[in-house]
Amino acid sequence: MSSLSVLAQEIRGLYAGWSSSGKLVRPICAALLSLFLQGCARPPVREPVTLTFLEEWTNKTFSEARQQELQQFTRETGIRVSLLPSPDSARQRLVLWRELLGTGASGPDVYAIDVIWPGMLAEYFIDLKPYFANEVSLQFPATAAGYTVDNKLVAMAYRADIGLLYYRTDLLRQYGYREPPRTWDELEIMAARIQAGERAKGKKEFWGFVWQGAADEVLTCNALEWQAAEGGGRIIEEDQTISVNNPQAIRAWQRAARWVGSVSPPGVVGYREWDSLNVWVAGDAAFMRHWPSAYLDSQAAGSSIRDKFDTALLPAGKSGRVGTLGGWGLAVSRFSAHPREALQLVRYLTRRDVQVKRSRTLSQPPTQPELYNLPEVLGPNPRFALLSQAFQTGIVSRPSNIIGKKYQDVSDAYIQAVHSVLTREKSAPEAAAALENELVGITSFKKGRPPAGISNGTAKGSSESVH
Ligand code: GLC
Repeated sequence: MSSLSVLAQEIRGLYAGWSSSGKLVRPICAALLSLFLQGCARPPVREPVTLTFLEEWTNKTFSEARQQELQQFTRETGIRVSLLPSPDSARQRLVLWRELLGTGASGPDVYAIDVIWPGMLAEYFIDLKPYFANEVSLQFPATAAGYTVDNKLVAMAYRADIGLLYYRTDLLRQYGYREPPRTWDELEIMAARIQAGERAKGKKEFWGFVWQGAADEVLTCNALEWQAAEGGGRIIEEDQTISVNNPQAIRAWQRAARWVGSVSPPGVVGYREWDSLNVWVAGDAAFMRHWPSAYLDSQAAGSSIRDKFDTALLPAGKSGRVGTLGGWGLAVSRFSAHPREALQLVRYLTRRDVQVKRSRTLSQPPTQPELYNLPEVLGPNPRFALLSQAFQTGIVSRPSNIIGKKYQDVSDAYIQAVHSVLTREKSAPEAAAALENELVGITSFKKGRPPAGISNGTAKGSSESVH
């Protein structure tokens, strides 16, 4: 077994003991570093280059498909890749990435980075612009903008995410609904009715709507969707105004707090992606908010809801429909000992034919709009038709490009405020006013109000009329 597979195995062992408090980050970094340094101290061997790739969190299906992609890369180039796993909380991932990069030692060569991280981590990665000028112009503009900091292309998008509504087609039919809900208010009504009906039939654990309410980055994504659709802004606006303390955002948070324990389980305030997906795949929910990646497990052979669901854009509020723009890009570490090979890996994983294939094997939406017109992409994934449009006109971007290095502090403060409303520790007006002051302290920006309509950053919100 190569030293790198030993390393990967050891890291897997370390992650198995990961504590939710994140206290193990330091020991993990120390172990990673010492392993890398041992590797460096060895005399040079005439082995082919092996890159290390720190991936975002995946499950078995995803990592098996990724391994196959990487094996194909090795066949094409002779370069080997060792895939390192990562923790499942977005917040903990950022802590680990920062610690690894902050040491300045040659750790992983290629890092998967969240679309909101470039402003915080730009200094650790090489500028990809000179190498990918053509490819980047083919991407969704909002995605490319997310990975660009001060004209530096920090990462190449390879997974495009957007918040979507999953709904049970069989149940909607049974309860006389011909379409998924057009508005958030309709969703609440439909969820309550289906939940009451299913419980009356004896399904005591059945819930109307599951989503992600844990105090983690994914709550920022959920809450931003509720408030932006109602004209409640995107926390901090393009013109550096702190807009979060406004009546529309407050009403949107209050509505979500009402869901907790009524149409959504009380435990939803602790749900991350996998918690909601488990309830949904078990057949215990009528609606779920999730990313496109949830499709794979929902439609897997053992899923109790296989062929009984579909996806739609999230419901509209008074100002329109929006899903939070998420996603992951590939960045090359400035400390990599093999930057040339690392660039080859990024090029391969973001390549058109590899993306087309991945859209079939993993049902993963491509990052380039023109790929959505191909029959080999749309044929197996007819639901992608709505995604291509949504990525251009129906997204809200978190304010990471406005706040840069301070994004995590802003997002953490927002998460705590919304979470305190969901758990009824604070009233929404009280939480919004305190958050506004806290954000002034963090950013020194001025207080203000959101612009009229959807304020979504890099693209225009869907102006679709819903009534
Ligand atoms: C998904 C999104 C990412 C987001 C994260 C939150 O991985 O792609 O952008 O930050 O979920 O959990």
